[in-house]
Amino acid sequence: MATAESTNPTALSAPVARAAARPNVQVAAPSRREFLYYIWAASTLLALGETGAALTWFAFPRFKEGEFGGTFAFNPEELPSVGAAPTSVPAGRFHVTLTTEGLRALYGVCTHLGCLPKWVPTNGRFECPCHGSKFHLSGNWIEGPAPRNLDLFIATVTYADGTTVETPAEGGAIPLDLNRQITSIQIDTGARIIGELHP
Ligand code: FES
Repeated sequence: MATAESTNPTALSAPVARAAARPNVQVAAPSRREFLYYIWAASTLLALGETGAALTWFAFPRFKEGEFGGTFAFNPEELPSVGAAPTSVPAGRFHVTLTTEGLRALYGVCTHLGCLPKWVPTNGRFECPCHGSKFHLSGNWIEGPAPRNLDLFIATVTYADGTTVETPAEGGAIPLDLNRQITSIQIDTGARIIGELHP
């Protein structure tokens, strides 16, 4: 609602009007020290606000589950048998493979220039359509211009008794005990291990 002061430009603000009514009363202007104090207080509040916003940003995952960049729940029943064709998850851009060494979640992007190698069942290997790089079921390089093995995503396998095993930090497969019931397999597409350079 408009005040009398805002509608009447000649109207005086309350403190000034009081001062005008009492000529011996002065309206105190903030001192230089007070002014600097207000600036400091405003800066501190701004810095605290920015810190709070940053903490909130990092406290919550930036990617939803099932979205590339986030974690995927891979159905243990879709685990391929040892040496069989991989199970591909296009939304997560990875292939789950099982060899005698164990389970890997291979990032499905060629380590040469980023094309998408396909599993070729007749040859039993991944073959890149762009420049012909080829990779074993393990993701290890066979031939072609790709400089290194396929990259890996970190997988976490949970057994029925609650114990978990995870992709080793240095890469490679997760050895699996297939005699135990696996209750969940999580693939973190936000945690990639770069494939080893081949000689
Ligand atoms: S992008 Fe795969 S071989 Fe070049």
